[in-house]
Amino acid sequence: MNKYKAWKGRFKKDTSPLMEEFNSSIKFDKRLYREDIEGSIAYADALKAAKIINQKERNLIIKGLKEILKEFEYGKFVISQSDEDIHMAVERRLIKKIGDTGKKLHTGRSRNDQVVTDTRLFLKKSIRKILSEITLLQKNIIKISEREIATIIPGYTHLQQAQPVLLSHYFMSFFWGLRRDKNRLKNCLTRTDILPLGSGALAGTTFEIDRKLLAKLLKFSTISENSIDAVSDRDFIIEFLSACGIIMTHLSRYAEDLIIWSSSEFDYIEIDDAFATGSSMLPQKKNPDSLELIRGKSARVFGNLITMMTAVKGLPLTYGKDLQEDKEPLFDTIDTVSLCIKIFVGVINTMKINHTKIKYNDYILATDLSDYLVKKGMPFRKSHEVVGKIIRYADKQRISLSEIPIEKYKTFSKTFEENIYNVIDIKKSIEAKKTLGSTSTRSVKKQITTAKKLLSLKNTGT
Ligand code: ARG
Repeated sequence: MNKYKAWKGRFKKDTSPLMEEFNSSIKFDKRLYREDIEGSIAYADALKAAKIINQKERNLIIKGLKEILKEFEYGKFVISQSDEDIHMAVERRLIKKIGDTGKKLHTGRSRNDQVVTDTRLFLKKSIRKILSEITLLQKNIIKISEREIATIIPGYTHLQQAQPVLLSHYFMSFFWGLRRDKNRLKNCLTRTDILPLGSGALAGTTFEIDRKLLAKLLKFSTISENSIDAVSDRDFIIEFLSACGIIMTHLSRYAEDLIIWSSSEFDYIEIDDAFATGSSMLPQKKNPDSLELIRGKSARVFGNLITMMTAVKGLPLTYGKDLQEDKEPLFDTIDTVSLCIKIFVGVINTMKINHTKIKYNDYILATDLSDYLVKKGMPFRKSHEVVGKIIRYADKQRISLSEIPIEKYKTFSKTFEENIYNVIDIKKSIEAKKTLGSTSTRSVKKQITTAKKLLSLKNTGT
């Protein structure tokens, strides 16, 4: 047996190559090299503070670890076929570099507390990165909302034209969803920011490892209170995956609207060439693949959440190798969400809005007609019925509401007067909205101002 196996003492025979391959996580957990080395550097300090190693040994270990970090950064680190995981790979290399002192590093530590420390360190960075990417998307949403403040679209319910709204109002709705997404991530960050290191395999350790010192060195806000919980807990991953799942529902829904809007039937927008692709057979096609992939990739993020919940739900405490399965869904989610956000920014920044193609018939002002009658004293249920009949009439005649003569209106209700035609006006309908958070230009501008304040952006007085 000439391969490096930290646990070889207990074993008489070699591991089967098939089992070696099955057991190994190095191909994906090598991504944790930085965090693994960071964690080990701090751990060397804790060992020194506990007088398990002396200053010289501490320095030697840290020097070796820093060199290994460089090897990884420069792509020089050679992974050996028998490296089980990133922790073993770094340890093997350290011992090769500095000799027996390297064998002291793992004192009082288990890969169980080590791996979850690495993962938490990694996720903390990733959450911060995704938060800033979402902020960038929000900034672009604000920019488009300011630019399109005069654009009116039909708002939809059931994908049927419902009431006119400002396009800005529509886009700003996305901003608020993303704000909730960020709050969920920040919340998850507080529960990721807990140090498990120093919990050993499950029971703690007989060495006086100062966990508070470790937390300080590794910039964790707090330490775990229970060593069993520390090595078993993957809630922070599940929470993150679930928060990302919700982010993907948002991206996917808005992607779907834009896909519909880019169809020839709607033609409200044109996706830029840079974010569309063609068909191998149909020369006329320009497909919104960017948005379709965002919609499609939401599925794998949801899948990752289910993978993780399933992996832990029947797992006896504490650690089981099942937990090694946490990394691929985690990494895949981080990469997928991050990429989808960036693509979304690209799509909305470059898409063209076909203002002249945005079409609606004035039936979307039916509620305004009904409100007109209510303001003249008619109970709403009654006015709803009256307007319903007017629409049925107009639809049958194939005319718009503004084309119905006043005499005809009066046959539906005597309450109608000449000024009814002032109400049948898209712009007026928008501006007539009185409630906070509504689609009136005033209200949307206020919304944008609030949003900018939240992002600490300068208000230019939109
Ligand atoms: N590669 C393992 C993982 O990702 C590290 C922990 C292994 N622990 C153990 N007791 N075998 O979970």
